[in-house]
Amino acid sequence: MAVNLTLIKDRVQLAMKDDTTGHSFDHIQRVVNNAKMILASLPDANAAIVYAAAYMHDLADDKLVADPVARKVEMQELLLTAGYSEDEANAVMDIIEKLSFSANLHHHQKLTLEGQIVQDADRLDAIGAVGITRAIYYSGHHGEKIYDPAIKPRKHMTKEEYRRPGTTINHFYEKLLKLADEMNTEPAKQIAQHRNQVMKDYLAEFKAEWNGER
Ligand code: ADP
Ligand code: NI
Repeated sequence: MAVNLTLIKDRVQLAMKDDTTGHSFDHIQRVVNNAKMILASLPDANAAIVYAAAYMHDLADDKLVADPVARKVEMQELLLTAGYSEDEANAVMDIIEKLSFSANLHHHQKLTLEGQIVQDADRLDAIGAVGITRAIYYSGHHGEKIYDPAIKPRKHMTKEEYRRPGTTINHFYEKLLKLADEMNTEPAKQIAQHRNQVMKDYLAEFKAEWNGER
């Protein structure tokens, strides 16, 4: 790759270093690692585009940055400085725009192969043991209850409703247990199956303990 990924990595590390909402740089590094693993089975994908989008996918999130528009201008410039062509930079920015779960609540965003890989890599980090931990961490940060049997999981949510607090346990039914079926690529589908089972086992244990059955 003729591009300078270190430049991008360093910028992202700086932006994420103080995050306490589950989007710290360790999340980014796991997403990059997941993307690398998926790329190994999909040699036709443009790896430079995948890596840039994986590193930068949370940089312009409107819940994490005060001025997403200014941030996007900066990201585009960073890509050009790092050696990406105008077209490649646009491809990376397009992926980031369409990626998030909340962007897909209303209509399914059509993604390029590179976008599908980054989406899977990001979603893999939201499920399994790490996903359970991130959900609890996010809930604590946002003041959600752990669980309340009287509050039912929401079915169809707008972006505003999705951002409104629910409960930690409901988040599994509202989002996390759906992700395994929504993976785009074969390698991600396989890993997701195991991680989905880990979450199901956890929820079964949780409910048994909650009900005093164990
Ligand atoms: P996206 O950027 O794809 O819209 P989020 O930023 O909403 O995703 O999610 C980031 C992390 O926080 C994920 O691991 C997600 O499962 C978790 N999370 C998001 N909303 C909640 C919630 N209401 N309760 C618990 N965890 C949540
Ligand atoms: Ni992410």
